[in-house]
Amino acid sequence: MTAIADAAASRGEDPSDADETPPELSFFRDFHPGAADMRADVLEGLSRPQKGIPPKYFYDQRGSALFDRICELDEYYVTRSELSILRRIGPELAAHVGPEANVLEFGSGSSVKIRTVLDALERPYLYVGVDISREHLLAACRDLARDYPDLTVGAICADFTEPFQIPEREFGERWRIGFFPGSTIGNFEPEAAKNVLRAMRAELRPDDSLLIGVDLQKDAARLEAAYDDAEGVTAAFNLNVLTHINRELDGDIPEDAFEHLARYNPDLGRVEMHLRALRDIEFTVAGQRFAMKAGETIHTENSHKYTREGFDALAAEAGFRPLEYWTDAEGLFSVRLMRAV
Ligand code: AVJ
Repeated sequence: MTAIADAAASRGEDPSDADETPPELSFFRDFHPGAADMRADVLEGLSRPQKGIPPKYFYDQRGSALFDRICELDEYYVTRSELSILRRIGPELAAHVGPEANVLEFGSGSSVKIRTVLDALERPYLYVGVDISREHLLAACRDLARDYPDLTVGAICADFTEPFQIPEREFGERWRIGFFPGSTIGNFEPEAAKNVLRAMRAELRPDDSLLIGVDLQKDAARLEAAYDDAEGVTAAFNLNVLTHINRELDGDIPEDAFEHLARYNPDLGRVEMHLRALRDIEFTVAGQRFAMKAGETIHTENSHKYTREGFDALAAEAGFRPLEYWTDAEGLFSVRLMRAV
């Protein structure tokens, strides 16, 4: 029995559930939320007066691929700005974190960013990717294992906003650095963001680090362009959530009855994405009927933008103390190194 299957057994899970570990990886655990969770989330969201779908359901295989394309768009400065910072801070990062660290990446989508971190650190020991999109995660982790032969690589398919079992035995006593890039934290409203940070804090010990990318508040035009690009990639990404729901939950939501909408709400400091019904429609999801009037929307995403101090205050409440604050040349995006207290 592997250490992980053993751990699963000791939690009272059927060890025959232990997931097939691809040969390149030293472990793989699958806590992927099942169809039942998605069904409950989506039905609940569509039943509210302001309909909503949690943004984590963007990321089926096509959604993940569309998101990768968003990251290359001229308008979407987020990825470029963050990468320019990560490429610059290598020596400082290495000095703070020290040699042979264990690296835990939350939402391990982009392998480019993690490579910048791994290349900066001194002989990183273990890398564990945590992501909700299983195939995307396994592909990214396999590539890393191949390209970093001295690195132990593991994967955990999980919704990292919920507690999940980190394989303590694999981690040992080495320093840990959590990596949460891309301003994914922005998807959560401040209270929920605090809970996500607390969940990450729980996977770390005192004096471990968290390297986190946080998008900054700026003018509405710049933000709205980033979330409503000329090519329509973000629109396709937004609409794809309907395709994902139709496939997984036996739905018949007509994609062509909706348009993509992205607006900056300066009071709440967030870009909101919606899908707006172009006409009165009715549809079925998981056997349940829904109706929408023309103009009514489904709220699909919030992307919160922070100030330096605003995010520091939030993180402090989750058990992190700011250590370093870096921005790109244009001051669009921030990367912060925080220490677990
Ligand atoms: C992955 C949540 C950081 O909010 O900028 C990009 C997702 N949505 N374009 C973001 C997204 C539309 C992205 N995050």
